[in-house]
Amino acid sequence: MAQTMQDMELQLKGRDFIGLVDYTPEEIRYLIDLAIELKKKQQAGETYQPLKGKTLGMIFEKSSTRTRVSFEVGMFQLGGHALFLSKNDIQLGRGETVWDTAQTLSRYLDGIMIRTFAHRTVIELARGATVPVINGLTDFSHPCQALADYQTILEKKGRLEGLKVAFIGDGNNMVHSLMMGASKLGVHFAVATPKGYEPDSEVIQLSTEAAKQNGSTIYVGYDVKEAVADADVIYTDVWASMGQEAEQREREIAFAGYQVNEELVRYAKKDYLFMHCLPAHRGEEVSEGVIDGPNSIIFDQAENRLHAQKAIMAAIM
Ligand code: CP
Ligand code: NVA
Repeated sequence: MAQTMQDMELQLKGRDFIGLVDYTPEEIRYLIDLAIELKKKQQAGETYQPLKGKTLGMIFEKSSTRTRVSFEVGMFQLGGHALFLSKNDIQLGRGETVWDTAQTLSRYLDGIMIRTFAHRTVIELARGATVPVINGLTDFSHPCQALADYQTILEKKGRLEGLKVAFIGDGNNMVHSLMMGASKLGVHFAVATPKGYEPDSEVIQLSTEAAKQNGSTIYVGYDVKEAVADADVIYTDVWASMGQEAEQREREIAFAGYQVNEELVRYAKKDYLFMHCLPAHRGEEVSEGVIDGPNSIIFDQAENRLHAQKAIMAAIM
């Protein structure tokens, strides 16, 4: 039996948002559609405040421009309030346990967003919290970015099913969330990394299984041209993620040949879109000509973080 909107709203209320792996294709599509709707409301100057009187705590153990600002602004627009909690300022940074932090914060807050290193920290936080927990990036995944990205692709291309997204570079947190999202949304996904920098094998396995059910394919290999062949979207990310700064030199050597540049994009569809979660290093993972060229939609992606996260917060909080 088809689910009604009310069923979906009930189904999402109180849930954590830790990974797209936990969400069905219908739930992901619902969140994307809601993001598009909230974006329209915002652009029309309409006030929509379902989170009036609610507070979101935002724990940051790593730097952020987009995540911090978009969550804070998003919460404000939804009628609520957001608190920035730097790890350096709260007792978590001095060794208070994740469990005690989760229990304590749950007595004040209606939701917790966390950006951290180890993925298990988010899992532990969610286990200890009695309010919804949102993953604002871990070393393993970045589901808020992936949700915003599929919203952006849908807006630009008018559909998701059957499109091909190619990711060139490091098999990192971004790849994991994009691959999982693609597999649920019927998007073909191809990733090319240097040897030794492949995505997590369990994510590949789960995505490959989900992709089969949803009519798409997953390619994981080393050949950039094969990955980019006929792609509708080319995506890349930094070669050294936050926490890997010491490996910068070694990675520059390993990733030579994995730059998205004018030569490589010729293998994609003519109307391909270039995407990057940002922050970017021009001249490393992407040439200036491509990232600042006419096919680049990097700031539309960045903008949609606001709308996609408003959808997540409105749905689960
Ligand atoms: N893309 C992204 O998450 O950006 P920030 O690190 O600036 O939050
Ligand atoms: N892979 C990058 C993404 C930043 C939004 C990092 O983890 O640093």
